[in-house]
Amino acid sequence: MEKLKVGIVGLGRLGKIHAGNIANKIRNAELTAACSIVPAELEYAKTELGVEKVYLDYREMLRDPDVDAVVIVTTSREHCWQIEAALDAGKHVFSEKPLGVDVEQCHMAEAAVERHPEKTFMLGFMRRYDRSYAYAKQKIDSGAIGTPYLVKATGIDPEALVEGAIRFAKTSGGIFLDMAIHDIDLMRWFLGAEVTEVYAMGATFKHPAFREAGDDETGLAVYRFANGAMGMVHVGRTAPYGYHVETEIVGTEGTIRISAVPEKNLARLYNGAGVVTECVEGFPERFAEAYLLEMEEFVDCALTGRQPGVSVYDGTESTKIGYATTEAWKTGKAVKL
Ligand SMILES: NC(=O)c1ccc[n+]([C@@H]2O[C@H](COP(=O)([O-])OP(=O)(O)OC[C@H]3O[C@@H](n4cnc5c(N)ncnc54)[C@H](O)[C@@H]3O)[C@@H](O)[C@H]2O)c1
Repeated sequence: MEKLKVGIVGLGRLGKIHAGNIANKIRNAELTAACSIVPAELEYAKTELGVEKVYLDYREMLRDPDVDAVVIVTTSREHCWQIEAALDAGKHVFSEKPLGVDVEQCHMAEAAVERHPEKTFMLGFMRRYDRSYAYAKQKIDSGAIGTPYLVKATGIDPEALVEGAIRFAKTSGGIFLDMAIHDIDLMRWFLGAEVTEVYAMGATFKHPAFREAGDDETGLAVYRFANGAMGMVHVGRTAPYGYHVETEIVGTEGTIRISAVPEKNLARLYNGAGVVTECVEGFPERFAEAYLLEMEEFVDCALTGRQPGVSVYDGTESTKIGYATTEAWKTGKAVKL
């Protein structure tokens, strides 16, 4: 069987998940190389994943002929130059979201993708590969809810992780750029239209440290789309019960709700506290299967010369909308796109 030889860059929180999937779960892929600026992560790649070639220098990994494709899971500001360098070195590229940290960088990545149409490029909007979201999209496209006219999205991180979010608050770019990008992508995908206008606001009731860092612990944004449809995104940091990701798409003939209860599994615990449904704990648990399915799609596209459904332009558009949302939140004024 032909196997795609993959080199991964970045073996942090998410890099380890992708690396484990490529090394152990995807039958037509092989993890031949790994790169990180953290030596302990390279040791992890060698000992835990059996990767023979490890690099501290990304450009050196790109010169390795045993690497057909690069999976980029580094800090967001590194994505665009690493995308460009990999495509120019003749590699297929999967990059984590966001595409870039500003729109100029995104255009640079677009130009690199356009220079190499023979290479597969994919962006990690993995929710599109989650079975429930993919099913919802299929139902919308088949007319099951008539014309979709409203998407309501909720994404609240577990309160258990709030200390990390506070430490990161000064440099995260703000709650919307940090947390709303997947919901922004999903709204565009479900509604089949682009955002023309956004209103946004934020609030902080539990952790004043967010305000002190120029951020908010909760954000709410309302969108108008070019076809007249509407969107609403609620993001936050303080869900005491776990990781709350929920999406509702309302159409003229019906509604689809995805994880109306963000439940861990189908088990119910009946005890002195009542009937308890435990909540999913975090994104690695909620989207474990989606991370695997999106990587299988990338590998298949690279081996067969296809381009995936998520394009570089989806990355630029979501970044633009993220910035417009942030501007609306900071200024208190509606922002037109
Ligand atoms: N799709 C999702 O749901 C999702 C979830 C979490 C994170 N992410 C994205 O994934 C990326 C990584 O996030 P994380 O939480 O794993 O971060 P992390 O900080 O845990 O890991 C980042 C890794 O990048 C490496 N790195 C940074 N600069 C490098 C360079 N120049 N060369 C080589 N290695 C370099 C670091 O050593 C580290 O291994 C971010 O862009 C983030 O937005 C996406």
